[in-house]
Amino acid sequence: MTTIRIPDSKHVLILAISVALALFLNPSFTTGQTSVRQRDKAVEVRAETLLKQMTADEKIGQLSQTFAFAPGATLEKRIRDGQIGSVLFLTDPAQINKLQRAAVEGSRLHIPLLFGLDVIHGFRTVFPVPIAMAASWDPSTVEKAQAVAAEEARAVGIHWTFAPMVDIARDPRWGRIVEGAGEDPYLGSAMAAAQVRGFQGEYLGAPNHIIACAKHFAGYGAAEGGRDYEAASVSDEQLQNVYFPPFRSALDANVGTFMSAYMDLNGVPATGNRWLLHDVLRDQWHFKGFVVSDADAVKDLKTHGFAMDAADAAVRAFHAGVNMEMAVGSGDFGAYLPLALKEGRITVAQLDDAVRPILETKIRLGLFEHPYVDEASAKQIIESPDHRTEARKAAERSAVLLRNEGGILPLKLSAYKNIAVIGPLADSKWDMQGPWTFANDANENVTVLNGIRDQAGRDTDVEYAQGVQISRKFPSPFAALLRGKRPEPWNEEQAKEQFSKAVQTARNSDLVLMALGETQDMTGEVASRSSLDLPGQQQQLLEAVVATGKPVVLILLNGRPLNITWAAEHVPAILEAWYPGTQAGNAIANLVFGKSVPGGKLPFTWPRNVGQVPLFYAHTLSHAPQRQGTRYWNEESTPLFPFGFGLSYSTFQFSNLQVSKPQIYKGDNSEITVDVENTSNVPGDEVVQLYIHQQYGSSSRPVRELKGFSRVSLHAHEKRTVRMLLTKDDLTYWSSATKSWIQDASTFDVWAGGDSTAELHSTFAVVR
Ligand code: NOJ
Repeated sequence: MTTIRIPDSKHVLILAISVALALFLNPSFTTGQTSVRQRDKAVEVRAETLLKQMTADEKIGQLSQTFAFAPGATLEKRIRDGQIGSVLFLTDPAQINKLQRAAVEGSRLHIPLLFGLDVIHGFRTVFPVPIAMAASWDPSTVEKAQAVAAEEARAVGIHWTFAPMVDIARDPRWGRIVEGAGEDPYLGSAMAAAQVRGFQGEYLGAPNHIIACAKHFAGYGAAEGGRDYEAASVSDEQLQNVYFPPFRSALDANVGTFMSAYMDLNGVPATGNRWLLHDVLRDQWHFKGFVVSDADAVKDLKTHGFAMDAADAAVRAFHAGVNMEMAVGSGDFGAYLPLALKEGRITVAQLDDAVRPILETKIRLGLFEHPYVDEASAKQIIESPDHRTEARKAAERSAVLLRNEGGILPLKLSAYKNIAVIGPLADSKWDMQGPWTFANDANENVTVLNGIRDQAGRDTDVEYAQGVQISRKFPSPFAALLRGKRPEPWNEEQAKEQFSKAVQTARNSDLVLMALGETQDMTGEVASRSSLDLPGQQQQLLEAVVATGKPVVLILLNGRPLNITWAAEHVPAILEAWYPGTQAGNAIANLVFGKSVPGGKLPFTWPRNVGQVPLFYAHTLSHAPQRQGTRYWNEESTPLFPFGFGLSYSTFQFSNLQVSKPQIYKGDNSEITVDVENTSNVPGDEVVQLYIHQQYGSSSRPVRELKGFSRVSLHAHEKRTVRMLLTKDDLTYWSSATKSWIQDASTFDVWAGGDSTAELHSTFAVVR
């Protein structure tokens, strides 16, 4: 006989709470409005319960993150002692599990660690760099790529990426332009949201996804002179209209975390800037996640001449709104906040507020239930052939065709018996992946040479010559982290020999593919330059090869606009391939041989010369704008290639631009339609771009602003009508005159076309 025990009321309550929590915190739990709210409530209750059990030191431990390049006994002890809440930079699941065990089994409250890494453009499968992904003008490709990156990273135990970088960059001397979406706030916002969706999935804690981090809040891209880490002076008007929108977009996409920036913003370090991290982010934008500092940026508050000493730095960063300190070694939060608490410089309530969102994030991720990663299945996920296919497609979709005189591309293989592949980046397994790759296996990367060889077939001979070596004057501090060693530098005699050999290889061929640009450590962090010239002797090599009279296709591997003004006149075909990632060679071969058609567009304005920077299309007009010589007497004031520019093997024609109503009221939407037709026999993609200009108002507005885009695939001779909506938000801006967001009554120009110089024009008015 079985006896059934009736549980007492206390047990019923515990049972009910457990069932509810298990249900709400189950990663496969589906989201609907009510359930999201219930889930949020359950998370809050659980975090609060935990918080009540924590000592002050344990709370401060949760605010501390450290790098673990080589985890050792000291780190494990600190973890067991509850001094660390998060660890970054590990990629090995066994090491991750080991440290996690120290936290979960060794620390008093068993609070799991959060593992973070810069998963910027892929993990084991490397996708094109972010600037390239932005050049796809295709948020769905971007979202898919970051979902793959998230899945791979999650498979080895990483929970959190320090991406997307959503800093607007209008100065290509700044090396980190490669990590963002370029110069435009509208495109940047679309890319920010797509990346957050890709990384995080439908909700924070979704299976096979990771938490994203919008960085670097804010204004880092405006570093003086493009010099990394330098101060940024950005007017309120520019902050609100240009630099903030991609952050706001990431937030609207529910990004879990923000990272504070290194530099001074208008005289106050971003990491100690309460206006930025608290007034804007928390009060105005209602951000509910947590803020991590950039690495050692808390310590830097002393360097800035802002904090008196390290203790002051910790307290001021904390009060500014930094929840978690990212420290390369041991941090200032752990060292000084305990005393600050005793002295009353910070309060328990403030400490609780700082810790709460960190605990909530760990709960949402399901780390208390599933702290460990399955080491056995990681390999299979990160080596998935499907991921490589996605990376190749993304590389093809992000390439931008800058020049194609006489339709030399796509190459007709039968026309060439000897192809020369030349250049320092043509057969480099490392450089094609770009910066920020720590888990990639370079051996599986397909170089330009390999890709071309694979597709050239038996009847075409492919000869390779490197020609020149290129390197930085001051080595990158990240050089040690790069996998694979750089070859020994050539001596003068070898250099001459290699140069001549390359020119001779060109002479012996009937077509030359040149892969030029920058090595992977020439862009990214600590990779700014005072020049945009092709580094080293690449320009000389290019000119010598062109002088052979052989047709040349220039393939650029880089993350910023380089000085190709000479090439744009003398080299018949130029393909901007960026750093395409793992599948570089296959993607490039598909593009040059016409298996796929380039359809990417520039996410920045391409200057003629470094002296023009910053140069961006959305400038305002002033005295005598039409007279070139009024700007520079020695140089055009136009760019080499405009923002949004990119050619195709197809040709397109725009017509019939229609504005739904000639006049709308403030707050109303305006519908714009335009026809786009593929006028060629080749199927291809065009990016339909919509620009506006407010003709007058309480402030001067940019001569053009992107307010809509859509990448469409069109069959040969297909014509399609594309609809875009201009909303109140699109017609509203932050005015320095009123110091507020404003929608002016005004007349608006509208243009639609394939780049920012589109001529098809109409107008409409906004009244009252
Ligand atoms: C410093 C960089 O500025 C930031 O972007 C990165 O996430 C951290 N280091 C961690 O690598």
